[in-house]
Amino acid sequence: MNPSADPTARAVEAAPAAESAWAAERLAAAQARIAPLAARHTEAVTPRLQRVLDAFAAERLGVHHFASVSGYGHGDLGREVLDRVVARVLQAEAAAVRLQFVSGTHAIAAALFGVLRPGDRLLALTGRPYDTLEEVIGIRGQGQGSLLEFGIRYDELALNAAGQVDVQRLEDALAPPTRMVLIQRSCGYSWRPSLKVAEIGALVERVKAIQPGCLVFVDNCYGELVEDLEPPAVGVDLIAGSLIKNLGGTLATTGGYVAGRAELVERACCRLTAPGIGSDGGTSFDLNRLLFQGLFLAPQMVAEALICAELVAAVFADLGFPVHPQAGAARSDLIQAVKLGSKQALIAVCRAFQAASPVGSYLDPVPAPMPGYASELVMAGGTFIDGSTSEFSADGPLREPYVLYAQGGTHRAHGQIALQRALVALAQAGLDQGSFRQTIENNFR
Ligand SMILES: Cc1ncc(COP(=O)(O)O)c(C=O)c1O
Repeated sequence: MNPSADPTARAVEAAPAAESAWAAERLAAAQARIAPLAARHTEAVTPRLQRVLDAFAAERLGVHHFASVSGYGHGDLGREVLDRVVARVLQAEAAAVRLQFVSGTHAIAAALFGVLRPGDRLLALTGRPYDTLEEVIGIRGQGQGSLLEFGIRYDELALNAAGQVDVQRLEDALAPPTRMVLIQRSCGYSWRPSLKVAEIGALVERVKAIQPGCLVFVDNCYGELVEDLEPPAVGVDLIAGSLIKNLGGTLATTGGYVAGRAELVERACCRLTAPGIGSDGGTSFDLNRLLFQGLFLAPQMVAEALICAELVAAVFADLGFPVHPQAGAARSDLIQAVKLGSKQALIAVCRAFQAASPVGSYLDPVPAPMPGYASELVMAGGTFIDGSTSEFSADGPLREPYVLYAQGGTHRAHGQIALQRALVALAQAGLDQGSFRQTIENNFR
């Protein structure tokens, strides 16, 4: 190094190469730090894949299940086997996997409308539910036939200061007769820990002790196959989620599922189709093979996504950004939150991730309104399946404190490439908490 040279001038001169080298160094350090965690996630694939294989074997999956019946879809053997396989994988009495579910929100809405009746009370135990459920419940919007408009009472138990379920206030919150409690396993767009399945189990016990007749529903989006146990195994009555998240293994082209007690799954299906048709209707459009194969790949895809999440956590924590959860913390979902603190940084990272995407890399993600969401969102998701968040993607609502929610990743190499690009973008924009400048100054001192 030349000690007499002006470090700032040298830094500017050497900018692109220096930034790339700096980014590669940061990434390598983060990779080394998470290597034992990656090994742990990889090991966890085996028992979960075994569960999937056992389910296939128990239900005698064969090639004749790949085709489906057109029209009404009555007697679709493949669909029926898929339902039973998924019930086994999710440790539930029954499941209904349907391409007619447009999304996780739709599956959750079918579960809530299918089970709740006018006059019932629904109590959310994990504070404000995910943004898209606000209109389903009736907290936001009018005239769309929300639960509230159908006479279902809604209350919320706010999370405590640590972002956890406020168990001290649970008994009071459950004093009025309550038909169902809603638990959101994943953090959604909020800065709070996701719930472990064991914590959900403890809540089920408390709720049933206070009100034995109260049903427990879990929004299971992003949680499937992250832990060894799924919520039905700890007494949850009904769960719902999306197939273009964990369970679809990045191959399912659309769809969602409900799982839990057979009678409740049927009620959710009666809402999806019609009373009297329930789970018996709905073709699989000859896509059964993709659904089975996606499920077969899902444990591996979930592990890769978790490794990408660890890497995102390590890279941004090393730069000094608050992250949730920390690398190495026990996880119950795929979501990795990073508090970027500014609109510019949120957009810069999303742009970099989009540019490193396999599809639509030339697109510039701009904040825009999205159906179901109150805030504008910025989304980086150049994915093969539109909107798939099991493929490496990130998004965030354009509101304080500008938190980036990253998720998915079919292979860790993709996460690495995207992160390196994001680091360069942040350094070039001077949004990297001064880390790049500091390194350059140290090197040229
Ligand atoms: C916790 C949670 N619930 C529900 C949803 C809605 O799922 P979908 O986008 O499939 O409607 C999401 C989406 O990210 C979520 O994070």
